[in-house]
Amino acid sequence: MPLVPPDTAGVSAVAARLRAGELAAFPTETVYGLGARIWDPDAIARVFERKGRPWFDPLIAHVAERDGLGALWDAPGEPAAVRDAVERLVAEAWPGPLTVVVRRRPEVPDLAVAGLPSVGVRLPAHPVARALLRAVGDPVVAPSANRFGRVSPTTAEAVLAELGEDLWVLDGGPCAVGVESTVVGFEADGTPVILRPGGLPAEEVARITGRTPARGSRGRIEAPGQTESHYAPARPLSLLPGPIREVGLPPGRWGVLSATTPAASVRGPGAEVVGVEVLSESGDPREAARRLFAALRRLDALDVDLLAEPWRGEGGLSDAVRDRLQRAAARR
Ligand code: TXA
Ligand code: MG
Repeated sequence: MPLVPPDTAGVSAVAARLRAGELAAFPTETVYGLGARIWDPDAIARVFERKGRPWFDPLIAHVAERDGLGALWDAPGEPAAVRDAVERLVAEAWPGPLTVVVRRRPEVPDLAVAGLPSVGVRLPAHPVARALLRAVGDPVVAPSANRFGRVSPTTAEAVLAELGEDLWVLDGGPCAVGVESTVVGFEADGTPVILRPGGLPAEEVARITGRTPARGSRGRIEAPGQTESHYAPARPLSLLPGPIREVGLPPGRWGVLSATTPAASVRGPGAEVVGVEVLSESGDPREAARRLFAALRRLDALDVDLLAEPWRGEGGLSDAVRDRLQRAAARR
């Protein structure tokens, strides 16, 4: 019974499995996660194996309530300005698509955080995720429930297609946000550093902390797991150099991911368009984020090479959409 209904009985059955050291997948508002209880290093090791994930890529710990952060975060060991920025962010943006990277307590298993001195923590907004976390009673580490480097799943069926039909998946339907959480670290003076753009816009991080966030880069705060090629379909995907109306399509057989161009205008001399997905004709980045991963999956199923129109929007979830598209197209 791999697809589990998200009712009380289903949630308790999946919680019992996690407590018994099994893995199970569950919905969040961003993408589906592959969960393991954080105090169970054997189960955490199986998360890495099941995804084919390299050991240097740290996992995010999910908590049921704001005060769950206390069991993981060495707050006294943190500069006062960092404590203040973290507390403001979690007070306003949790539950929601925000992961804070903070100094970890020594009890957090090394394997969960790839041996780093920090831990990423998030309180998801999805009611099924929160019900599950409460029923487990401990934090749950959960990477996106896809094979490493592939497209993240935004439906329960996509999880089974990625990780195998025997996995138990709580079925919460399609994810409302559709891209992963924004991962935020902190400099010693409290400046937030966006290590991964995601469901919480950078403007919101700026508003809540009162500081302009820096963009993560090697050398500032360690940001492992941000490999250039990621979120990749099985077939090669190329980013077009501009809007389809201006640059057209090159000759060939293609599946096309249009950013905003209506399907009827997706064409070019000598181009055979086998399938088209449009992210958002109105240019709404929320709609684009929600549709992105499922659209990539449908195009990938056509078994032709893929072209994507760049996302031109600014603000809101536009950074996250652009980041995922660029990584999906990066050379492997
Ligand atoms: O929305 C999400 O965040 C989803 C859902 C399931 O919650 N989870 C997710 O996990 O996207 P994952 O494993 O696919 O991405 C986690 C990324 C790591 O690759 C790394 O870039 C960053 O989060 N991260 C986690 N812990 C970190 C740490 N201690 N220091 C720096 N970066 C960290
Ligand atoms: Mg992932």
